[in-house]
This record gives sequence, structure tokens and C-alpha cells, in this order.
Amino acid sequence: MKRIKIKTLLETKPVGTEVTIKGWVRTKRGNKNVAFIAVNDGSTINNIQVVAELSQFSEEALKNVTTGACVSITGLLVDSPAQGQPVEMQAKQVELLGAADPETYPLQKKGHSLEFLREIAHLRPRTNTFGAVLRLRHAMAYAIHNYFNDKGFVYLHTPIITGSDAEGAGAMFRVTTLDPINPPKTKEGTVDYTEDFFGKETNLTVSGQLEGELGAMALSEIYTFGPTFRAENSNTTRHLAEFWMIEPEMAFYELEDNINLAEDFLKYLVKYALENCPDDLKFLNEMYDKELIARLTSVTNTAFQRLTYTEAVDILKKSKEKFEYAVDWGTDLQSEHERYLVEKHFKKPVILTDYPAQIKAFYMKQSEDGKTVRAMDVLFPGIGEIIGGSQREDNYDKLVKRIGEVGIHEKDVWWYLETRKFGSAPHSGFGLGFERLMLFVTGMGNIRDVIPFPRTPKSAEF
Ligand code: 4AD
Ligand code: MG
Repeated sequence: MKRIKIKTLLETKPVGTEVTIKGWVRTKRGNKNVAFIAVNDGSTINNIQVVAELSQFSEEALKNVTTGACVSITGLLVDSPAQGQPVEMQAKQVELLGAADPETYPLQKKGHSLEFLREIAHLRPRTNTFGAVLRLRHAMAYAIHNYFNDKGFVYLHTPIITGSDAEGAGAMFRVTTLDPINPPKTKEGTVDYTEDFFGKETNLTVSGQLEGELGAMALSEIYTFGPTFRAENSNTTRHLAEFWMIEPEMAFYELEDNINLAEDFLKYLVKYALENCPDDLKFLNEMYDKELIARLTSVTNTAFQRLTYTEAVDILKKSKEKFEYAVDWGTDLQSEHERYLVEKHFKKPVILTDYPAQIKAFYMKQSEDGKTVRAMDVLFPGIGEIIGGSQREDNYDKLVKRIGEVGIHEKDVWWYLETRKFGSAPHSGFGLGFERLMLFVTGMGNIRDVIPFPRTPKSAEF
């Protein structure tokens, strides 16, 4: 008999028909007459309750049907007399597909800590929490493609291996096939990368933006959505060494248009989650964060607060809050400052613009004042920075001067500079950290818990 997914079964409720489900046993309880087996197949957070009359089965048939075991069960779907579930299955046939020894199965009991679950990332998708997070993650990825597709943006696949450092951050993972013990050397005694696979030094990308801009200068509106890598040693609840980023890049957009798009995009995604993932959100709301759904709803119908970096610094200086780091015009805001603005001062998402040039990347459009650039950061409650972006410097001479100042060699970015030489256009873009979005949407507190297999310093087991 054809298998029916538990989600479909619970939605369509074909009471009175015989069905087959397959999945993993979450719990088995019962008495001397009957066993109640709750089965989950990951299609929904809800289990199907299976009732097995012990008189109809040999002891052997049900012995190994224990928590964690994989089963295929055929039976009649009936209205459930029990509270909290509209239907249940009366088992006719129970087939054990894979046993899970109760003595050693790590998820035998409920209520494990998130820290413990991180150590068994290979099994944690079988918990309610990670099932919910992973389904929401999928829904958000789907919604992102939907959003841009509806707006006529082209999904541009930018490279993962690059010879450039887009953010000028210098915290990159090297990609090489050279022998680490005995690499070829130049006359000067340094490693000779001309002998390397690509004939030059290469790294994993920190951002698809620079290549994204090349696409926007031909297709008008593009977006990238792929993995990015940063070798910074920041062991925080909001940083990963491997994370996914969504980077739209639009020709003919000025900073204002860019901000409007970012706000509309975030609201669309949050609304999508609320409308399409109610069961998973309800679970997370109950288990982890009683204000989750209220906070998500409020973001969809509140105008984000827009102000300049300079105005924000004024507010922070005047505030009575004790910050660990001092605030001064020209220094980067710390997450404590960002969160003060969002959570205490404005109590809503904040978009900061016009940052000092010296704390932002070389490609941002320089303002008339000679001090600031047309940058924008979107700050979210509980998260801090969720989006970073800007209008781009489209003037060839200004850009060449700026890359010289920050120490980038023209020969390394000649292809980027050519877009300003041939048919340059005003353009803008931003990057949304996918896992930061997932932190917000799920209400989880640690970025390691919103990606299936987190990569952080000293941790890449699975
Ligand atoms: O602000 P960032 O560094 O901006 C860029 O990379 C630009 N090239 C984007 C653009 O304009 N196209 O990073 C963008 C976002 C941040 O706002 C944050 O949400 C996320 O990426 N992010 C990280 N997420 C997880 N772990 C890390 N280590 C992250 N670093 C940045
Ligand atoms: Mg940033």
C-alpha cells in the first residue's frame, strides 16, 4: 500500500479508510491490552497516534517498536476518542524497518538541553525543536526565491572560490592544493602560489556582492543566495564561520530605494512564516519564547525607524545606559549599542544610514560631506544587525582613489573597476544573513541552533 505522509493524513483525515504511514517512533505507552505509538515522519510537527491491540500482535512484533525505531504501519483511520487529536490509527500491520536500542539511543528521553543536542547534530533533526526549525528554514528559503522571482530579479550564482576579498576584512579561508608540509617556494622564500591549482592565491568567498554587482550592471536586478565563509574567531551566539547570505543588487536604485526594498523584503518573509508555518511557530512560541508570535506580528505592521548614524550616536551619548564600550562619532557601534536603540529606545526595528566612511567597506558611495558613506544597516530586536548594505560608489575616479587609500591593488579588482568605466550606473544592494533571519523567525537564542550543521571555531564534526 502506498505510504501517506502524516501531514497529509492529518489534514485530509480520510476516516474509515486503510492507510500506511512510515516514520520514527516518538513514544510508546500503554497497558496490558493496548499500546499507543506516536509516530512522526518530519512532514509536520504533529504525530499520528497509532493504537495497537496487543491481542492482535505477537509479543515479538511490538517488542522492538521503541522510541527512535523506524516503522511502517498499516491500519484504519478512525475518529479519536482522545483529546488533542482529531484522528488516530488502528494498527493492522506493524513492520519494523530499523530498531533503535533503548539502552543506547541518545534521544530515548525528552527534554534534552540544546547544548547536548549540538553534540548529536546527526540525530537532533528528530526532535520537535529541530524539526520545526528546519521546516521553517526551508519555508524561508522558498519565500526568498518567491519574493525575488515575483519582482523579476534574476538568481545569479556567484562563485564560492574567489581571488578577491570583498569586504576587505582579511578573515578568509584559503583554498589550496599545495602540499602543506613542503610547498613550492619563490626565490624570496615565500610560498609560490603560481604553482597552486588556480595559479594564484584563492579563498572561500566572504560575500557574493562584487560579482553580484557585475550581474546587476547587465540584468538590472539580481540576487545571490549561497554559502559564505568568514574565518573570524568570534565565538558568539550570532556568528558562524559558514553562513548563508542573500544579496540583492539593483541597478538604478539609490539608498532610499534600497532601504524600502529591505524593509518590504523582511516584512514579506516574516508574514510568510506566520501564514505558512503556524504549527511550528506555535510550538516554538510555547517551548522557547512566549513573545515570539507577538513579536513577529508586530514587525509586519510597524514602520521601521530610520535615522542616521550621527543621530544614533547622539541618542546613545545622551542615554543614561552604562555601556561596556564607549560611543564616539567615528567608532563602530557594538551590538550592545544596536540593541539599546532597537529594544529600549525605539522598541522597533531600526535602519541606520550614513555611517562614517572609515568604518565601512571601500565600495560604498561617498557623500558630499566627505565624511560619510551611503550605508545602511537594519537592526532587529534580539539580533542586532540583520542586514548590511549600501548604495555603491559608481564614480570611477572616486572608487580608484578609495581602493588606493584602503590598500587594495587595482590589478586585483580591475574587472570590478571596469563596470565603472563602461556604462556605470547608480546602484545599490544589501546582504541579509540567513541565519540571523532564522534566529529572529524561530526565536532561538543561538545561531548554532538554526543551521543543520554549524561551523564555528574548533567545531566541524558532522
Ligand atoms: O554586513 P556584511 O558583512 O555585508 C556584506 O557582506 C555585504 N557584501 C552585503 C551586501 O551589501 N551585499 O554582512 C551582511 C549580513 C550581516 O548583516 C549579518 O546578518 C550577516 O550577513 N553576517 C553573518 N551571519 C552569521 N555569521 C557571521 N559571521 C556573519 N557575518 C555577517
Ligand atoms: Mg555589516
